[in-house]
Amino acid sequence: MTPTPKQLAAIKVAVFVLALVPLARLVWLTLAGALVEPLQFITRSTGDWTLYFLCIALAVTPLRRLAKWNWLLKLRRMVGLFAFFYALLHFLTFLWFDHFFDVAGMLKDVAKRPFILVGFIAFVLLIPLAVTSTNAMVRRLGGKRWQWLHRLVYVVAPLGVLHFWWMKAAKHDLAQPMLFVAIVALLLGIRVWWARKKQTPARAGVVQQ
Ligand code: HEM
Repeated sequence: MTPTPKQLAAIKVAVFVLALVPLARLVWLTLAGALVEPLQFITRSTGDWTLYFLCIALAVTPLRRLAKWNWLLKLRRMVGLFAFFYALLHFLTFLWFDHFFDVAGMLKDVAKRPFILVGFIAFVLLIPLAVTSTNAMVRRLGGKRWQWLHRLVYVVAPLGVLHFWWMKAAKHDLAQPMLFVAIVALLLGIRVWWARKKQTPARAGVVQQ
């Protein structure tokens, strides 16, 4: 299945609009006064969506290879940028609404809940990926270097899961984090498996020579 350029443009618009639905829902619920604990709800919801978009971005390559849907690659940048967008909202909620830019208060909070530091590291690592997501940056860095840099996502996703796991471990509620460990392990594991498979014939070739 390969969509025509027109269909692909429509798919892109649909993905863009769908990706904004969680934000629209948050704004709606907040303005309607329907949230009992708005700060907690917004922090958790934006954190969840960051993780979902990271997983979707990581799922593009396996899906493309297994289903032979090469066109999916054309959506990956948008999905990755939405992961960054929700991470930024998540971070700003913490920085602004939770701590009102009070650095001492934030540091105290991080000391009390070290899982926040892991999330912060994941967020910082996402920044170069977002900054270099344009075509001009791909050209400037060169394909190979760009690809290496973007492998940072293989670190960001496990850090995001660790952040989630650590937060939930304090509440003895690990069902969801376990699910994300499985998803991220599968999405990264399949890449390792493919990379090894690709290396094996090459190695065999070296031995034969
Ligand atoms: C890639 C980066 C990040 C990911 C994937 C992520 C993901 C998550 C997830 C999934 C949750 C739990 C939501 C739930 O309970 O349903 C969470 C909670 C939380 N995150 Fe992050 N996060 C990231 C970065 C950050 C950053 C940069 C900060 C702040 C500096 C942060 C602060 C928090 C806090 C304070 C909570 C707990 C909220 C509460 O106790 O209600 N996170 N995050």
